[in-house]
Amino acid sequence: MRIQKVGVVGAGTMGSAIAELVAFNEIDVVLTDRTPELVARGVTRVGAIVDELVAYHAGRLDAERKRLRGLGLELTADQESTLAHRLAPAVTRERGDAIKARVRAADGWDAFADVDLAIEAVFEREEVKRPVLESLDRVLPAGATIASNTSSLAISRLAHGLVHAPSTLALHFFNPPATLPLIEVAGGLETREDVVTGAIEALQGWHNHRGPLVPVRVRESPAFVVNRLLLPLLDDACHLLDEGVASARDIDVAMKAGAGLPMGPFELADLIGLDVALDVAETLSRELGEAKYRPSPRLRRMVDAGWLGRKSGRGFYEYV
Ligand SMILES: NC(=O)c1ccc[n+]([C@@H]2O[C@H](COP(=O)([O-])OP(=O)(O)OC[C@H]3O[C@@H](n4cnc5c(N)ncnc54)[C@H](O)[C@@H]3O)[C@@H](O)[C@H]2O)c1
Repeated sequence: MRIQKVGVVGAGTMGSAIAELVAFNEIDVVLTDRTPELVARGVTRVGAIVDELVAYHAGRLDAERKRLRGLGLELTADQESTLAHRLAPAVTRERGDAIKARVRAADGWDAFADVDLAIEAVFEREEVKRPVLESLDRVLPAGATIASNTSSLAISRLAHGLVHAPSTLALHFFNPPATLPLIEVAGGLETREDVVTGAIEALQGWHNHRGPLVPVRVRESPAFVVNRLLLPLLDDACHLLDEGVASARDIDVAMKAGAGLPMGPFELADLIGLDVALDVAETLSRELGEAKYRPSPRLRRMVDAGWLGRKSGRGFYEYV
């Protein structure tokens, strides 16, 4: 699969971060959303991700010097020069500007007429995704691939009846894609085998800010691997909270200190977005029918109240 231009639909948390990832891999990308204002917000988010990366690179030599001084280590002139060479910024301001310049706001579907790969990252609802996929189906060139960043929906159903159904698949990126390398790759019943293997091969050549991407092939099934395991964990964490076993903070601390997780379940839910987590839990519950997948009433109440996690400023924690 040759990917020279990518189109991303949905400029929210994932769409804008995926657009940045594509541009980071020196591929041009057009980004669209429901309104020009939402696209502009997405482009601003891309800029913020790039600025953070540039600042990290600019500061890492000083940070390492400080760390070594803190350990009481004095570097020789040779060691100092090796360190300066090794930690010279790989992403300079100029490179950052070049990454930003690759991301263009689309002024309509026509901007997608020459993309090799379109990735939709709109709301996790079939009734929202399906019209988007139909629009992409109409405008994309014959050889193009359509990818859905769906966390839980069936690609066979989303792609049903599309001309591009044989080249439609799920590419499930993880939040934030700049640092989490996993992509769950799943074809639907109609997806051609070479489209799945071609996507995996292409993604194996991409990097995020930390290293190579890790595409993993999964069978089409509700929520694939990671979310199928994670959502029941979040749900159980909500039950523990409801039973007063421990506070949200202490449950998170316990899971990090005792289970070795890098983030606690509530911190992770706030990062994912509680609305997204609820949508995934509902799909799991509907498709698999088992009680352990039923979304916690607490999660539903919080979404009803507009407490969506980091993106709304309040979830299990408050963000200023
Ligand atoms: N948030 C996560 O941690 C995460 C991780 C992996 C996958 N996903 C999946 O990514 C997708 C997007 O999730 P998100 O967290 O970025 O949500 P989000 O709410 O942050 O962003 C969704 C964006 O889609 C836009 N949108 C909705 N309908 C549209 C339409 N018809 N045309 C164009 N744009 C439209 C919205 O305006 C919004 O900007 C979902 O399928 C979700 O399951 C999310």
